Amino acid sequence: MIRLVSDIHNCNVIELPRVHNRAGNLTVFQNELHLPFNIHRVYYLYDVPGGAERGGHAHKNIYQLIVAAGGSFDVILDDGINRKIVPLNRPYYGLMVVPGIWRELVNFSSGAVCLVLASEKYNPEDYIREYNDFLKYRKEINAG
Ligand code: TYD
Repeated sequence: MIRLVSDIHNCNVIELPRVHNRAGNLTVFQNELHLPFNIHRVYYLYDVPGGAERGGHAHKNIYQLIVAAGGSFDVILDDGINRKIVPLNRPYYGLMVVPGIWRELVNFSSGAVCLVLASEKYNPEDYIREYNDFLKYRKEINAG
């Protein structure tokens, strides 16, 4: 069985293609062209009240690209050992979040839209929702 051992250094911000226009800009991403996974689901968070925190969970198998399509927020990434905070504030940057990483979304600006492209359809079984369960899961995969 192949075990995936990922850490926060595998989660990077990528610059997405931009088409400039005096009447406004456009950003596009396509399967097999711009992303290291195929998109099977798109969802977005919006109307997030000031001070709210979202996304306190990890995924076992799902890859995600997180984009601040509007406004700004911070993504906290945690691999059980290291933590980093990635501010997202432009619609042409996307943060790749690989499986096995705990992530939290905080500091939403007013009107922020958090667009998420996911490699799999919604599957509640893929979630780890408790931080202690996540640490246990990381220990198991790190031990091989
Ligand atoms: P959740 O992923 O728990 O959001 P967050 O961790 O940011 O609070 O999703 C919130 C609710 O939305 C949860 O009841 C499941 C539902 N949901 C879907 O039905 N489909 C989806 O693709 C997603 C992401 C969530």
